[in-house]
Amino acid sequence: MSKLKIGIIISTTRATRFGHKPAQWVRDIAARRDDIETEIVDLRDFPMPFFDEAASNAWAPSQNQVVQRWQKKVAEFDGYIFVTAEYNHSIPAVLKNALDYASPEWNKKAAGLVGYGSVGGARAIEHLRLIAAELQVVTVRTGVYIQGADFMAVWKEGKELKDITYLQAGVKEMLDQLVWWAKALKAAREQDLLAAAA
Ligand SMILES: Cc1cc2nc3c(=O)[nH]c(=O)nc-3n(C[C@H](O)[C@H](O)[C@H](O)COP(=O)(O)O)c2cc1C
Repeated sequence: MSKLKIGIIISTTRATRFGHKPAQWVRDIAARRDDIETEIVDLRDFPMPFFDEAASNAWAPSQNQVVQRWQKKVAEFDGYIFVTAEYNHSIPAVLKNALDYASPEWNKKAAGLVGYGSVGGARAIEHLRLIAAELQVVTVRTGVYIQGADFMAVWKEGKELKDITYLQAGVKEMLDQLVWWAKALKAAREQDLLAAAA
């Protein structure tokens, strides 16, 4: 099987955001593997309005051109790593909006979850699991939680994520699970296509 394509999605867009740091750190770890290729997907590159279509694109094609470009980007991947902040105990609105703007493109894919915040983005990650279920995205068990003093040290004091030992093992475990599910789901999607063509 060819390398799995994994999109690493940054959940925030504000000018002074932290989100690109953990995204790049996860990408650096993923680059050591030969079974996946990753791409950072920055929502800043997809400036979409708050949901403003006649329906979800599960039911009606979207009209907005940035949205159409977003849907094509989502469709390119076999799986995703969501690197999420926690805004008032949930995912940032810009990520929710981006999730809402695609539907079949997410279906039957796998996702790993990385959070940051006072409790490692744990509450946002759990909300994201519920949203993912509706989009038919399988989220893997092991989350990566950049939390408490570690989050503050990286955010405010220039500590590097790669120097926090326990987090590295968590990323490896998350990636192992993501690859297993992404591979299984890719094979199943391919079987569906063959059956439809027969
Ligand atoms: C609107 C808002 C709400 C926040 N709510 C939480 C929260 O519920 N839990 C938490 O741990 N951090 C919270 N924070 C702090 C964020 O963890 C911190 O600002 C983080 O850097 C946000 O990610 P970003 O820099 O990528 O935007 C909040 C920040 C903002 C801007």
